[in-house]
Amino acid sequence: MASTKVDIARQVPSAPPADEPAARLLPGEHTLPASWWTSEKVFELEKRSIFNKSWLFCIHSSRFNKAGDYFRFTFAGINFFVIKSKVDNQIKAFHNVCRHRAYPVVRKDKGSSTVLGCKYHGWSYNSDGKLLKAPHFNDVEGFVKEENSLFPVNTHVTEQGLVFVNFNNDPESVIPFDKWFEGLNSELNEFDFSDYEYHMSYELDGQFNWKTLMDGYQECYHCPTAHPGLSSAFKMETYKVVPKNRYCRHYAQIVREEQPESEPEPEPEQSSWFGMRKQAQPQPSPQKKPKKANPGGEFNGLWVYLFPTNGINCYSPAWYSIRVLPVSPTHTILQYDIFTKKGLDEDTKKEFVDFLQLVELEDFNLCQLTQKNLNEGVYSSGYLHPLKERGVLFYQNLVRDMVKEHFALEQAAGKPINPAIISNKKANKDVQELEEICNQLECGSSSGSSELQW
Ligand code: FES
Ligand SMILES: [Fe+2]
Repeated sequence: MASTKVDIARQVPSAPPADEPAARLLPGEHTLPASWWTSEKVFELEKRSIFNKSWLFCIHSSRFNKAGDYFRFTFAGINFFVIKSKVDNQIKAFHNVCRHRAYPVVRKDKGSSTVLGCKYHGWSYNSDGKLLKAPHFNDVEGFVKEENSLFPVNTHVTEQGLVFVNFNNDPESVIPFDKWFEGLNSELNEFDFSDYEYHMSYELDGQFNWKTLMDGYQECYHCPTAHPGLSSAFKMETYKVVPKNRYCRHYAQIVREEQPESEPEPEPEQSSWFGMRKQAQPQPSPQKKPKKANPGGEFNGLWVYLFPTNGINCYSPAWYSIRVLPVSPTHTILQYDIFTKKGLDEDTKKEFVDFLQLVELEDFNLCQLTQKNLNEGVYSSGYLHPLKERGVLFYQNLVRDMVKEHFALEQAAGKPINPAIISNKKANKDVQELEEICNQLECGSSSGSSELQW
């Protein structure tokens, strides 16, 4: 795969490919059934089929300044943290579970420490996950410190510094990152992430299914109706979602300050390249527009949806990430990290954040009310537009395929299969037998077996 940076100096994202003419939906290309937006059973199956097999975006590497810096996350019930190791300065992820009796080792959302002490019985670990001390265990026969490191989580850091994790604990079936998102790297290289710095984060707590948010994210059919600000910043007729390999590239032409040569001068009120009025900015002469101070200040959208639950949205003054964290079938937390262009003035930063938060809040409100109706159980499925909503169809098909494939494996095995589970081969021999009893009693709440009839 080409890793050469593409025209960063110009910061002009590439244009979308041309549409094939006369694309039409075939009969039956509807949304997935609405029950998949409300069912606890389906949610548990999605965890095993999708979330515990996928590469999930967490954070940007620029958030880690020194060894020991860590950030804690919970994704679909899995608690983990990402930390910069003092041993090799690499960014690594670990389950936030003490190897002794499972108390969480990290208790803050973020912090910095090269020694992580468990506050239950005092075991401590280094920033590389290795057990340092287990009080009073020195004399215990058969206890090997090296066999009690924190459970690692598969981690991948991209060239651009995007940190991903994958909970699949079966090395045989983990799809390597570059194959999972084949082609993504060269597209992300159209944007110079190194020219941006962390600005702020915020969170929204949604009473809706994770797919309710993804449905809206994966199309801009709703934008002219629901996002007046966005629609005045970008030419909605040019908005295009192009499915790739487990990701989609979104394209849209920005409404530029400068008009094409053949067109008349712009109206004075279209002063910002967001189409929003800048405060306290000197107005350019209508006769001769000054060159923009920021040459990258007006490029077209470079937005990427990353299956299943993430978005990376690159604008000229800032880029931001979306972490969609499923909590239950009808509860999802949305987390946004915003990175602004280095040296950007505070007014422009604020303008961007206001713009972004307005759009995201508009989406949030759409999701809240949509989910209420999905919960009613009256609506079952809807028809998707072949082009305007092909991004929705694309990701829903991935959901359907992964769920169906995994469900078939579970049916063949006669029990739930959780790819994230870490079995302790050193545990007592009868653990397997005792787990089997539990399986037969359908008591494995963590694996969701109680939700399925076998
Ligand atoms: S659970 Fe952590 S020391 Fe016991
Ligand atoms: Fe939207």
